[in-house]
Amino acid sequence: MKPKLMMTVLLAGMAAFFAACGGGSNGAAGNSTAKAPVVLRKSVPAEFKDKTNPTPDAVADGEKVFKSQCISCHGDKGDGDSAIGKALKPPAGDLTSAEFQNSVNDDYIFWHITVGGAAGPEGSGMTPFKDSLKEEQRWALVAYVRSLKKK
Ligand code: HEC
Repeated sequence: MKPKLMMTVLLAGMAAFFAACGGGSNGAAGNSTAKAPVVLRKSVPAEFKDKTNPTPDAVADGEKVFKSQCISCHGDKGDGDSAIGKALKPPAGDLTSAEFQNSVNDDYIFWHITVGGAAGPEGSGMTPFKDSLKEEQRWALVAYVRSLKKK
């Protein structure tokens, strides 16, 4: 076999190997044709399901709490651009993306903020805020997170 051809075969093999690993690590095994990693979200448990935001306009209050409690992982703009957030496995995702915003309801966001990583994929390092933030502060955060949706 010519060295150049051999290299090509090797690279193709490595690419297939890494594609297979990537698919497995986010739980989407068998979906190696997908280009972007598939985000698998758990469904909202009965205790939180269908809860609606009593203060959907509390965006400014939510922003204050977000800046003090969330940006270390989710980044100043909530788009996941933080060294800590990116180093976590799974990473702290982009809360501004249409993909996230269109996939979830407010009950999901409130549940996440309340229980933290327990609502996320295995290994999530998100902090639970059940004890450190009042219920009204958590709903204000939901309002703020909603306001982050890219126009
Ligand atoms: C210690 C780091 C950390 C902090 C602090 C943190 N998060 Fe997270 N967050 C994560 C990680 C990691 C994920 C992705 C895994 C998961 O869904 O649990 C995440 C996921 C989320 C999700 C779900 C995203 C999705 O795609 O399903 C929401 C909503 C969220 N965070 C909101 C917040 C809010 C609001 C705060 C502040 C009150 C906050 N987070 C604070 C690490 C953090």
